[in-house]
Amino acid sequence: MKRVALLASGSGSNAENIFSYFNSRKSVDFPLVLSNNEHAYVHERAQKMGIPSFSFSKNEFAEGTPVLDLLQKYAIDGIVLAGFMLKISQPLLDAFPNKIINIHPALLPKYGGKGMYGHHVHEAVKNAGETETGITIHYINENYDEGNIIFQAKCPILPTDTPDEIAAKVHELEYRYYPEIIEQVFG
Ligand code: GAR
Repeated sequence: MKRVALLASGSGSNAENIFSYFNSRKSVDFPLVLSNNEHAYVHERAQKMGIPSFSFSKNEFAEGTPVLDLLQKYAIDGIVLAGFMLKISQPLLDAFPNKIINIHPALLPKYGGKGMYGHHVHEAVKNAGETETGITIHYINENYDEGNIIFQAKCPILPTDTPDEIAAKVHELEYRYYPEIIEQVFG
């Protein structure tokens, strides 16, 4: 069974959904959670599931070594990003070629790139008057949101939808599809 580390910066609702899915399926092991934010709620979710979690500073993520040491110690084969807001550094990319995947809360290549994360994405989509949005699951490369796309799913936007309502629709797609795609990639 592949051992996959999960990286998250915030709430970690996707993380919890992924852990629950694989708790019963046992096709991918999630033995480690990493964050760039020691106060992120994902730590509590990890603790609840009995998964060790650690925080590293932005500089430590950029430098690579302390993070790589820990990934090696836990014999990690791949990385899943679920609401992780930092760019993945070159040392990590080199150590995990084509083994890091991300979920983006929009239909890339639209609404991607630096500064396009979380709520900013849904506000931009709303302001542009889009009639649909969705999710993109993709490999990570050296540029934000530009790695090869693995999977996309769409949902309609009503003219009355607020950014929060758009976010809720997108989260539903994330919960439904991200575990399955992780299983296809790492299972
Ligand atoms: C998710 O919607 C995810 O797609 C997005 O952050 C949210 C995290 O929610 N990721 C990005 O914007 C990455 N650029 P969660 O912490 O509740 O899973």
